[in-house]
Amino acid sequence: MKVALKSGTMHYLDQGNGPAVLLIHAFPLNNTMWSPQLEAFSSRFRLIVPDLRGFGQSQPPSPWTMEEMASDLNELLDRLGVTDVAVVGVSMGGYIALAFWSQYPVRVRQLVLSNSRARADNETEKAARNGMIAAIEQGGAGILPDRMLPRLLQPNPAPLIVRNVREMIDQVHPSAAAYAVMAMRDRMDYSTMLHRIACPVLIVTGENDAIIRVEDARAVADAIPEAQFVKIGNSGHLSNLENPEAFNGALLSFLGPK
Ligand code: MLT
Repeated sequence: MKVALKSGTMHYLDQGNGPAVLLIHAFPLNNTMWSPQLEAFSSRFRLIVPDLRGFGQSQPPSPWTMEEMASDLNELLDRLGVTDVAVVGVSMGGYIALAFWSQYPVRVRQLVLSNSRARADNETEKAARNGMIAAIEQGGAGILPDRMLPRLLQPNPAPLIVRNVREMIDQVHPSAAAYAVMAMRDRMDYSTMLHRIACPVLIVTGENDAIIRVEDARAVADAIPEAQFVKIGNSGHLSNLENPEAFNGALLSFLGPK
């Protein structure tokens, strides 16, 4: 389905019945990364699964910040008549989920930050982002699979998962990729606000996550009152895809049976 938002056209899935759950994808992927959750959860929950601005079928790309992307998602929920929602974000999706919580806390019933962090980039990370932007500008989005796959997936990943993630990366528009890297480079530091989160929170990490280490995810959980923490075995950065059984089990027990 598609909806015309102030920022452009957003493509999304709206599937299932029950309490609403917003699933926010990682970089440089699209909403199909949530396929294992769509299958497992749509009999109990209403899943709202957008392609973020410029990704998947949400076109065209334009520059954004985490807070502006949160505002796009808020507008989407308004349009769908959804009042409160469990917000679930993987990695970049988690950065957006935190920005969403900070702007619309009353709307957030539960918050799940998977393979994500709360702090801003440090200078080394910002320099790496600039290197990535320059590489995309010179080489197009074709440079992304070789750069991203070894970081997104754990060592010796299953060939089917590699193919699936590569297909998603292959669809990325170069400008969408560059704008997202800029948004990640310039994102706000939410780490000093974590103690204010009053809704139930689940922090998920992958035991072999090469982008956001288990210790970093643990530090986010430690800073949030009453946060639950779960480490997904046999998983790198994309826990929901690499080990969907464990991820779905953790998510379901957190979201609660209907
Ligand atoms: C993601 O997986 O969404 C990004 O790689 C996260 C990041 O680079 O910080």
